[in-house]
Amino acid sequence: MKTRAAVMYEHNQPVVVEDLELEDPKANEVLVRTAASGVCHSDLSVVTGAIYYDAAVVLGHEGAGIIEHVGKDVTDFHVGDHVILSFVTYCSDCKMCRMEKVCLCESYDVPRGYQLDGTYRLYNKSGQGILQMARIATMSEYMVVPHQNLVKIDDRHSLEKAALVGCGVTTGVGAVLNTAKVEPGSSVAVIGTGGVGLNAIQGAVLAKAKKIIAVDIAEKKLDFAKRFGATDVVNATDNDPVEAVRELTEGRGVDYAFEVIGNPDTIVQAYRMVRAAGTAVIVGMAHHQKEFSIPAQHFVATERQIIGSFYGSCQPRVDMPKLLNLYTEGKLKLDELITKHYQLDQINEAFADMEAGENARGVITFN
Ligand code: APR
Ligand code: ZN
Ligand code: ZN
Repeated sequence: MKTRAAVMYEHNQPVVVEDLELEDPKANEVLVRTAASGVCHSDLSVVTGAIYYDAAVVLGHEGAGIIEHVGKDVTDFHVGDHVILSFVTYCSDCKMCRMEKVCLCESYDVPRGYQLDGTYRLYNKSGQGILQMARIATMSEYMVVPHQNLVKIDDRHSLEKAALVGCGVTTGVGAVLNTAKVEPGSSVAVIGTGGVGLNAIQGAVLAKAKKIIAVDIAEKKLDFAKRFGATDVVNATDNDPVEAVRELTEGRGVDYAFEVIGNPDTIVQAYRMVRAAGTAVIVGMAHHQKEFSIPAQHFVATERQIIGSFYGSCQPRVDMPKLLNLYTEGKLKLDELITKHYQLDQINEAFADMEAGENARGVITFN
């Protein structure tokens, strides 16, 4: 069948939206009709090569849709099921999965973007095989994906809101609640309050943090941050954010700082703005070849901690339905996250808006 999709053919070049040929699902695979796809900075990072995929690849890793067809041996999903796409494929059975670290599943050693049998499901009109970001590719009208990447949700939820839970909401909220396990009364700083960082702020609200300091370089993002629960804001263009955060915490530094950009400089800022024995949590995906450096003796002498948080240390099938329920109960903001809708053909405009800092989250909807 045909599917229209956003394809990255060349790094740092405009994305091409075109019709591709999509194969039927094989055993253990499922065909999903995409309802909505969020536009996350990681999609742009695939275009720039910061998150490396061989070309060509269909973008998108934050989405939701409806099952149209199930392949052989799929017993846990049915036609008509509403699903969120998880961007990790996990087995539930390996050592990491049994430790509830399913995002670090060890079972699928397949090159990035290929299906589990090492082949393609998408081809362009010249017959070239096309990869799928995170093995899903939510910036396509239809996707064939492993059933292990699917999370079944209740039909009553809006698929557009559910799409956001596929990455930004789970990554941001999960970093605070699952990875760091922030205690009530804590002080928290969030550096970078875009689509993911705003959700770290929401996570801090859910964790009942007392002080929530948003740090960004865009005034518009700091306004969003206040709406999502930040108690203080720091514009890092006119202030040293480390000094500013210290001043707001009696000179001591925050209990937890979350870096939600993926920049070695702001990672070091996160380290420097936590108190002694405090924790810097790195959420942003930096360029795969970049490193950060911190003073080695200071690290020991202050007992600071630096921890990575991938996909909010989530268990997709446990956490995503819970997050949607929190939204239904009015405890999680999803409507306010979506500040602009796009058609798939407008993907390059959506990336330009992201670089200009226009949106909390932009969302592509499919007819
Ligand atoms: N200091 C403070 N804020 C900054 C700086 C800086 N030096 N540089 C950029 N920012 C802010 C931007 O203004 C923006 O508000 O960081 C925010 C990034 O937000 P988005 O572009 O919306 O990115 P998002 O989708 O939230 O992803 C953030 O998480 O999942 C990862 O790969 C993703 O690394 C990326 C990060
Ligand atoms: Zn993402
Ligand atoms: Zn596993």
